[in-house]
Amino acid sequence: MDFQTEIAKRRTFGIISHPDAGKTTLTEKLLLFGGAIQEAGAVKNNKIKKTATSDFMEIERQRGISVATSVLAFIYKEKKINILDTPGHKDFAEDTFRTLTAVDSVIVVIDVAKGVETQTEKLVEVCRMRNIPIIVFINKLDREGKDAFDLLDDLEQKLGLSVTPLSFPIGMGYDFKGIYNIYEKNINLFSGDSKKNIEETIAFDNIENSDLEDIIGSSAAETLRDDLELVNGVYPQFDKNAYLEGEQHPVFFGSALNNFGVRELLDCFVEIAPAPRPKMAEERLVEANEKELTGFVFKIHANMDPKHRDRLAFVKIVSGTFERNKPYLHVRQAKKLKFSSPNAFFAEKKEIVDISYPGDIVGLHDTGNFKIGDTLTEGEQLHYKGIPSFSPEHFRYINNADPMKSKQLYKGIDQLMDEGVAQLFTLELNGRKVVGTVGALQFEVIQYRLEHEYGAKCSYENFPVYKACWVDPDDPKNDEFKEFQRVKSKFLAKDKRGQLVFLADSQFSLQMTQSKYPSVKLHFVSEFE
Ligand code: G4P
Repeated sequence: MDFQTEIAKRRTFGIISHPDAGKTTLTEKLLLFGGAIQEAGAVKNNKIKKTATSDFMEIERQRGISVATSVLAFIYKEKKINILDTPGHKDFAEDTFRTLTAVDSVIVVIDVAKGVETQTEKLVEVCRMRNIPIIVFINKLDREGKDAFDLLDDLEQKLGLSVTPLSFPIGMGYDFKGIYNIYEKNINLFSGDSKKNIEETIAFDNIENSDLEDIIGSSAAETLRDDLELVNGVYPQFDKNAYLEGEQHPVFFGSALNNFGVRELLDCFVEIAPAPRPKMAEERLVEANEKELTGFVFKIHANMDPKHRDRLAFVKIVSGTFERNKPYLHVRQAKKLKFSSPNAFFAEKKEIVDISYPGDIVGLHDTGNFKIGDTLTEGEQLHYKGIPSFSPEHFRYINNADPMKSKQLYKGIDQLMDEGVAQLFTLELNGRKVVGTVGALQFEVIQYRLEHEYGAKCSYENFPVYKACWVDPDDPKNDEFKEFQRVKSKFLAKDKRGQLVFLADSQFSLQMTQSKYPSVKLHFVSEFE
């Protein structure tokens, strides 16, 4: 098969949802359709369960599973589908943000009873900022939930989406009769049988046809006709280009657990979802069909086996082909590297592959060469943008609790930061180290992993900081910036890349600082124009 056809075949996407909305269940049903797994229950849920086990044991369990579910690939209707895993737990939101830099589209899962939840709001905002095409799947229609129109309003108001339903529910919960598929113009009756692989559908071009009464009963028929009239009147016709531009967002309804509405979603997805999209590097826009390899690391998994210090760097291929044993330029380190056993992912297995194409993810065994955001090329000086660090929300001093093990401690901290578990800041004034995290859970993760993987012990001390902001002076030589540095010296630190960071101790002090030094811009994200 030629290079162009291979690219056109690929669909690389992420499923995002608030925990419990049904992401794992939907993923599993998609894999079943692809024939990649044979039975339900094969895909493990990597969410943090609220059980009696302590949080960090739970995190270890989750980490074990998430290697297996990082990339799940399968073939459906001759398309190679790569699903990238996105943790739903808010403390791992940064992981999800980074994964979103490697997807070409997303499916958002919403629980019909809960509607739009906070975690979804933040993730969808990131997708909208990047114009990532979004399809919405409203799940759990077998349960009582919110009215379909209220949900569509919710999607517009809370998520800022421009929705257009491509299917519409007939009843809900106890009265759930099925779904009218607006995209395919047919009716799918709900049987509540999750084992069914292909649901029976009844073609229904004209909704006015009196057969509708025989199929779903007269009152449901009347409601459906009214609903569809309203849909027609209120929502725009589906426009594939608008969807691809991230300006229109198709919505499907179903029940993942009952395998209902999932085939419709998948069939539409393979038809409309984008093949690998071009990606902006600092230097230029890179098209997928360029012959030379370019790719970037968006995730690192380390030390699954502490005896071997193994790390797996996940590289998204943006252009060209990635070939086994061919030397590639590691741009940041300015050195050529060869990989004798690059991994590709299929369902829950990984195996060594000779060649991978744009849209694919390869897992590279690494002994400490890679950091998140690193770029690989065939020689070009190229730096992919868009793997920013976000301002952490929790800060603590990190101290060495075992002076005999300081080497291990610093190595451990270094590697965990490369993996993106947290961010390290070094205070300008006294060189003390401060760890900043998105969620409080990460402090436990770091302590636990330092001890179990590096044999080092750390302790924490409170450090009352409200937010870390990256400092961006209009003119580093002007007096205003010099005064800012002098007055705020107690609150200045360097991040791992040596960028200057202001640690504001309250929202008030942040506002005051901004108004007092207007030529010193403060950013909540580490990448800015
Ligand atoms: P997540 O990955 O988004 O966190 O959600 P997950 O798929 O684990 O689903 C969360 C819960 O919702 C699970 O129940 C799952 O069985 C249920 N669920 C998913 N889809 C549907 C649906 O269409 N209808 C109904 N009624 N339930 C659905 P659980 O009891 O929390 O977990 P489990 O013990 O069944 O695994």
